[in-house]
Amino acid sequence: MVTPEIQKTVLVTGANRGVGLQFATQYAAVGWRVIAGCRSPDQAQDLQTLASADSSIAVETLDVTNSNHITALAEKYKDTAIDILINNAGMYGDLSRQAWGSLDHALFQDIMDVNVFGPIKMCEAFAPHVVNGQGKKIVSITSFLGSIGSVSKTPSTPFYAASKAALNMAMRGIGQRLKDQGVSVVVFMPGLVETRMLRQTFGLALDEAEKAKNFDYRDLPTITASESVSSLIPLIESLTVETSGRFLNYDGNEIPW
Ligand SMILES: NC(=O)c1ccc[n+]([C@@H]2O[C@H](COP(=O)([O-])OP(=O)(O)OC[C@H]3O[C@@H](n4cnc5c(N)ncnc54)[C@H](OP(=O)(O)O)[C@@H]3O)[C@@H](O)[C@H]2O)c1
Repeated sequence: MVTPEIQKTVLVTGANRGVGLQFATQYAAVGWRVIAGCRSPDQAQDLQTLASADSSIAVETLDVTNSNHITALAEKYKDTAIDILINNAGMYGDLSRQAWGSLDHALFQDIMDVNVFGPIKMCEAFAPHVVNGQGKKIVSITSFLGSIGSVSKTPSTPFYAASKAALNMAMRGIGQRLKDQGVSVVVFMPGLVETRMLRQTFGLALDEAEKAKNFDYRDLPTITASESVSSLIPLIESLTVETSGRFLNYDGNEIPW
């Protein structure tokens, strides 16, 4: 008799659009149970359409800056083993409010809340579920802008860059913490992905300093969210606790910390 395979489970934050929606779509397509977190389920039309056609997708209210949302969701799924936690939700923030000369404290706090506090709190709340899973993986979607070691011609957005560097550091520490329990913790750059974030951020006016450097994201090779996630899923699949604590590009290459 063939033993039925246990359905694997992935939890994705920011699953209503962009890269997060693709994670939900592609994991569901290969038979995974998907816990799809999003801030506003009633406005998440694409995700709701996906979920209405596939009972393996559960749409859950999850603002990652809201500790009550996180702990309530962790409690709701306390008996569920989660194979992969994907901290995908993120925000870039208006360029004009993080431009030199007009730095906006409130925006800094918002970005740090979403990009740093959220993923750390998600790890704290869901570590037990991941430890109980077979996959034992925590993946956070970072950016090459958070790489201190990379020298690149990129926009000077200090809040976003600092938040992703902080995320990277936090994930290194969490990786150390969870290593003994067999959990692999890795940060991934998804590529320069054609999502609302990229369009809203760089499709609008670039600040004068960037114009002077002739930076335009349209000069850089972009990929679709579907392409990004198609590359990321096999890389995530290949992670082991031995390779925990890495900073990888969507093509599998290492990015300097
Ligand atoms: N696109 C790129 O080129 C690129 C490059 C490097 C890294 N990244 C990273 O990739 C990840 C996905 O970005 P994307 O390109 O798919 O951008 P996106 O289309 O703008 O999607 C961002 C997602 O994050 C969610 N989100 C924002 N704040 C949240 C909060 N407080 N709680 C829960 N969810 C929240 C958004 O939900 P709402 O719809 O409710 O706002 C949305 O689902 C981000 O971490 C981003 O920093 C993207």
